[in-house]
Amino acid sequence: MSNISNVPQVKEIKNIKNESNTVKTFIFDWKLDSKSDYPLPGQFMMIWNFEDEKPMSLSLIDPIKEQIGFSIKKVGEFSTNIHTLKKGDKLGLRGPYGRGFELIGSNILVIGGGIGMAPISAFVDFALERGVKVDVITASQTLHEILFRERLQKAGAGVLSCTDDGTCGFKGFATDRLKALLQENSYDLIVSCGPELMMKAVLDLADQYQIPCQLALERWMKCALGLCGQCCVDDTGWRVCVEGPVFWGHELKLITEFGKYRRDSSGTPTSF
Ligand code: FES
Repeated sequence: MSNISNVPQVKEIKNIKNESNTVKTFIFDWKLDSKSDYPLPGQFMMIWNFEDEKPMSLSLIDPIKEQIGFSIKKVGEFSTNIHTLKKGDKLGLRGPYGRGFELIGSNILVIGGGIGMAPISAFVDFALERGVKVDVITASQTLHEILFRERLQKAGAGVLSCTDDGTCGFKGFATDRLKALLQENSYDLIVSCGPELMMKAVLDLADQYQIPCQLALERWMKCALGLCGQCCVDDTGWRVCVEGPVFWGHELKLITEFGKYRRDSSGTPTSF
């Protein structure tokens, strides 16, 4: 169980890695008394730039080097501001929050679409360190947006790249690659994070092949403490910041909005 800090801890950025044209990883020293206190892959933290605060999942959890990291895609005002920061600048971090991925079995398959590869990469490290065989589908629109291919290959995962335009690896959607893979191999567990329509298709395939499946949901968050209700999902009322963001397949089937819509900051449903 990880130590939770509900008050932002102001930390210096120790290192910054350029992962793609639009994604950078921000690394922080994170010293804890016990290795078992480190966050679990799939958990997230709230990042505060002293003006605004947003949830970010951990893409690096390294109890040996005593470091954690967040891979952030430049998409809006907040992330654009974060991308201007340099080594030595500071951010506030609170958390970690939510339910992370659970590791079962000895042969697993993980699928990350776009920036969904952030929590997936931390989970791959976690599984490999525990002697589990891992195949990874890393999917993006094009070659320059493929994330963590070399890092995960070096760590010992079987990495299959997949791009919409065919500039790297398989040409097509991650779920097409997944379909082909499931015809040839058997897995004990499927784990995925990425665009929700992709994850809905992953869930349907996992069901078809009767493989347990865990997916990480993304919803608008404000408090991350289970108090404001901003991240509640229909019809269960589960708070993604507390009961999620990782859910098992059988739980996702009870979330009627899964693969259909999500709520914006005002709570208005927006279709996928
Ligand atoms: S973000 Fe407030 S309840 Fe989840």
